[in-house]
Order: sequence, then C-alpha cells, then structure tokens
Amino acid sequence: MKLIVALDVDNISAAEKLINLLKKDVEIFKVGSRLFTSVGTQIIDIINKNGCKLFLDLKYYDIPSVIADAVSNAGKKKVFSTSLHISGGREMLKRSVDVKDRPLLWGITVLTSFDEDNLKEIGISKKIEEQVEVLAKIAKETGLDGVVCSAKEIEIIKKVGGLKVIVPGIRLTAEGSDDQKRILTPKKAKEFGADYIVVGRPIIKSEDPLSVARSILKEV
Ligand code: C5P
Repeated sequence: MKLIVALDVDNISAAEKLINLLKKDVEIFKVGSRLFTSVGTQIIDIINKNGCKLFLDLKYYDIPSVIADAVSNAGKKKVFSTSLHISGGREMLKRSVDVKDRPLLWGITVLTSFDEDNLKEIGISKKIEEQVEVLAKIAKETGLDGVVCSAKEIEIIKKVGGLKVIVPGIRLTAEGSDDQKRILTPKKAKEFGADYIVVGRPIIKSEDPLSVARSILKEV
C-alpha cells in the first residue's frame, strides 16, 4: 500500500516546504482544485523536478472531447494520475481511457459529502451504496485504473474487482477526524485492501509532518 500526501495548501512556498521535507519518504503528492487554482501548472513541474509523482485531483466532468483532451494534456505534463467523475458517463470515460500516454485514471463515485437526501435532490433515488456499485461497474467496464472511495465503500469496489482502491479519510486514531465522517486508520485501510491511502491534515497540519508520515509508513 502506498501513501499519497494531499498538498491542501494555498501557495507554492507552503507546497515546496512540504515536498522538500517529505520527498525522501513520500513518493506521491496530491494536488486538488484549491492549490491548482491558486498556483497553476507550475506545481506540476515542481513535483516532477523533485522526482516525485503527482496525483492531479481535479475531478474532471465535461463533454467527452474536452475531458479526453485534458487527460492528454495531463499526460504531456507527465502527471502520474488524475481523477474524473464516473457520473460524467461512459463516453467521457472511454475517450479518456483511449488517450495515448495518459496518466492513470481514478474515478470518483459519490462524493463523501453527499447523503441520500442530496442524491434524491439531483434525481437519484438509489441508496448511496447502490449508486456507488453502479458507478464502480461502469469504471471497470470502461477500463479506468482505480476508484477513489471512502472507507465504507472499499468492500463494494473490491466486489466489483479489477480496480485499484484509493482511500482518503485516514486518521491515526479515532479522535481528531476533522470534517471526515467515515475514517480508517492506515493499518485498517491496508487490511481492507486499499492500494493507496490519501492523507492530508494529519500530516500537513502537524508540527512534525515528517515523523507523522514516517509513523504511517511504519504502520503499513
Ligand atoms: O485532510 P484529509 O486527510 O482529510 O484530506 C483528505 C484529502 O482527500 C483531501 O485532499 C480531500 O480533498 C480528499 N478527498 C476526500 N474525500 C473524498 C475524496 C477526496 O477527503 N471522497
């Protein structure tokens, strides 16, 4: 199992500080909308220059041709993996999978901030678990490489099979969950079969990010 550290910060100097501190031990960093909107593609070059890998978590969702071109551009920039909403549909996923020299493609099922009422509001009457399974099957059929999912969903993704499992919402102990509702310890995530864990605040907000990262790596 591999550790991905989420660079949920707002500027290059904070990001570089973390990369420099952690790069000997951490291979993959995640950049999401927050940092990317603030600093743009220079963060891709910085991560590559440091010999690390980038999970560009921009959760793409648009018409198929636009997303396939975005995936192609990510490939040209040597991005290791990128995310896209499975609910963007089969054609969007298929066109992205078919891109030459592309990053790994990790699908988003149902956002963990959603509950059943939120789903109903946008016209989906299924239970969250059922909707996750529907989307995971589409991810598998279209050839995505993996799915980003909450602790609760690992089992569903494993049942569908053939997909790497990337799990955020990791905490070292049951306390201090921030705004994450379904949390797992690194050890439990490994036992449940996660291939990657995504850790943000427990590492980046700590007084000693390196020792927290090392203790996570030691645990797994
Ligand atoms: O700080 P924390 O460890 O909770 O950060 C988790 C990271 O994983 C954040 O960057 C967040 O965007 C991301 N994430 C998540 N839940 C999802 C998908 C991604 O927390 N379902």
